[in-house]
Amino acid sequence: MSSTIKGNKLTVSVYGQSHSPSIGAVIDGLPAGIEIDNDWVSAFMARRAPGQNVFSTLRKESDKPEIISGLVDGKTCGAPVAIKIDNKNARSEDYDELKLVPRPSHSDYTAYVKYGGNNDIAGGGQFSGRLTAPLCFAGAVCIQILKSKGVTIKSHIYSIKDTFDEPFDLENLYDDEIQYDPFFPTVSRFKGDRMKQVIEIAMENNDSVGGIIECAVLGMPAGLGEPMFDGIENLIAKNIFGIPAVKGVEFGSGFAGTEKYGSQNNDPFTVKDGKVVTVTDNHGGALGGITSGMPIIFRAAVKPTASIGIPQTSVNLKTMKEEEITIHGRHDPCIVPRAVPVVEAVAAITVLDLLL
Ligand SMILES: Cc1cc2nc3c(=O)[nH]c(=O)nc-3n(C[C@H](O)[C@H](O)[C@H](O)COP(=O)(O)O)c2cc1C
Repeated sequence: MSSTIKGNKLTVSVYGQSHSPSIGAVIDGLPAGIEIDNDWVSAFMARRAPGQNVFSTLRKESDKPEIISGLVDGKTCGAPVAIKIDNKNARSEDYDELKLVPRPSHSDYTAYVKYGGNNDIAGGGQFSGRLTAPLCFAGAVCIQILKSKGVTIKSHIYSIKDTFDEPFDLENLYDDEIQYDPFFPTVSRFKGDRMKQVIEIAMENNDSVGGIIECAVLGMPAGLGEPMFDGIENLIAKNIFGIPAVKGVEFGSGFAGTEKYGSQNNDPFTVKDGKVVTVTDNHGGALGGITSGMPIIFRAAVKPTASIGIPQTSVNLKTMKEEEITIHGRHDPCIVPRAVPVVEAVAAITVLDLLL
């Protein structure tokens, strides 16, 4: 199934389209007896919900999940947990003219080809970022369970276009004094303000920008994951690429590591509190596909929002002639801030499956 994260024990399936009556998820394989902290889950989902700041789409949705099954007295009972979120604020007329003229760099063209023109174009159909709302519910529940196992997930906006935050390192990752803005998390407030200016400029120009999200999973024990094709990196990357607009994933020093000597990139081993640790974390918590016990650090590249208000060239799929297209409707000038909790959610689902 295409919209399913399939783990060994845990499976999360997402259903719906941007403008279908509802969207939702079925989460199978959660341990029984888990009490879902609804307030915490709502606060987590609010970080992804639209309309939180001036950079976010004006589409107003409450994103309130209705739990349909899988709970008894507020606790998981072993049956799959199914949730539904109603779509109330859909405006399909914004998409009428896009039916035959695909938006450049959106999924309209590939979906048209794959489904023979029967695809639901409204709001991006099944390819919409809206489908990440139920994913965030599933992720929030998994984060709650992970916490009880001593595993936490932290992330921040690493960059917007060419403006960068301070990267995660072994000092700031464990610094509880740093206050992350839940809706625009950066290590440095100053850098965060500059990133917001970059988004504002793009917005004023009816344009869009992308960026990078850096995520760290702390507290994972060493020894999890398999060599070669079922490594921790493989599992995380496969699932993170399922988030719409993600176009790259790297671990540890990643591509930048190739600019260093081995002597600079290697992480010396040492012993701390009776445990083998590394002094630096260029390996991003994974060696040979197996967790080292150090923070798993990865970055996800999120492309600039495809739907922009600037006229662009496309093709009318009926006449097969070039046409100019100007996209109306409600779109984020930058997806990155709202995608941060989605990255955390997908990371949580992936690593919890390994721990179960
Ligand atoms: C939270 C979120 C919100 C998104 N909002 C938009 C949007 O408003 N406009 C848009 O063109 N794409 C948006 N996207 C991205 C598209 O869904 C995505 O680019 C498209 O499906 C094509 O897939 P691809 O970019 O992964 O190849 C959003 C993605 C996420 C995660």
